[in-house]
Amino acid sequence: MIADISFIKQNIEQDFATIKDAESLEQFRLKHLTKKGTLPVLVESLREIPKEDKPAIGKLINELRQYVEATFKEFKENLEAEESSVPLIDTSLPGRMPLKGHIHPIKKTLDTIISIFEGMGFTVAEGIDIEDDYHNYEALNFAEDHPARDMQDTFFIDDPRGDILLRSHTSPVQIRMMKSHPIPIRSIMPGRVYRNEALSARSLAEFHQIEGLYIDKHVTFADLKGTIVAFAKQMYGNNSQFRFRPSYFPFTEPSAEVDISCYLCSGKGCRICKNSGWLEICGCGMVHPQVLKNCGIDPEEYSGFAFGFGIERVTMLATGINDIRALYENDIRVLEQF
Ligand code: PHE
Repeated sequence: MIADISFIKQNIEQDFATIKDAESLEQFRLKHLTKKGTLPVLVESLREIPKEDKPAIGKLINELRQYVEATFKEFKENLEAEESSVPLIDTSLPGRMPLKGHIHPIKKTLDTIISIFEGMGFTVAEGIDIEDDYHNYEALNFAEDHPARDMQDTFFIDDPRGDILLRSHTSPVQIRMMKSHPIPIRSIMPGRVYRNEALSARSLAEFHQIEGLYIDKHVTFADLKGTIVAFAKQMYGNNSQFRFRPSYFPFTEPSAEVDISCYLCSGKGCRICKNSGWLEICGCGMVHPQVLKNCGIDPEEYSGFAFGFGIERVTMLATGINDIRALYENDIRVLEQF
């Protein structure tokens, strides 16, 4: 009997060595610890042992039982601890894609406009948002009491110098360019502009313009027209029609406003073009000789043209957004569409 017990012990020890996961642990339990398992059957066999041998054999069996139960418990706890330390990440799953940013429609329009003009040899320059009266008005030929100053409701800044303002258009960058760059100048100048206007579906107090300036010898109105039409055909398609209407700006002479045939109704008349069949896209003209003089350029030797677009307007035409405020509310449901 003693030999049997040590044989059983050996056997059980071999089986302990095979425990490596929940399944082999369960196999061990079924084989040795359940009712018909090795250990209970051994305990049961104590009954048939002659009375005088019982204390000694009983002691051995009891020791074996305690050893097996304690060791089994240890295996079980170790396995459970191992399992709970397994990270809850399934590394075989595909990764989570980070949300991609989005280029704002205004920026997209700006990038398109810039690349078209760069293709025609224009460079990009920038001015400053906080300007003085001289660059925003005076040098651009707006005399102090010129009624045209009222065309652009200006935000003035409380400043001891007295004539500081938020630029009402990008035209002051023309002055800065002409004063600081050698001729020829062929640049576009994008930026923010500010006007004290009531907010509505068509106007904001802060918006973007892009200014164009070309100064050289023998620049004519034909060059201006060719440049604007070449740009607009790339921007709006080859089938677009154009018209130049006489207009007035103090810093250009002659001046014009350019209309493009409405891209929505092809000129038949619709809500977007207010039934006129035409959409206004820019103001332009030949740089006024007085403006050239103000910048130290001899109008007898040089001439040039300038133009200005509203970028929001171009974006609204391109996207079909018909309320300008939608461009600034940053509603992701709107922005995601473009
Ligand atoms: N600065 C003018 C405006 O804001 C537009 C313009 C620019 C007109 C250049 C002519 C030449 O209305």
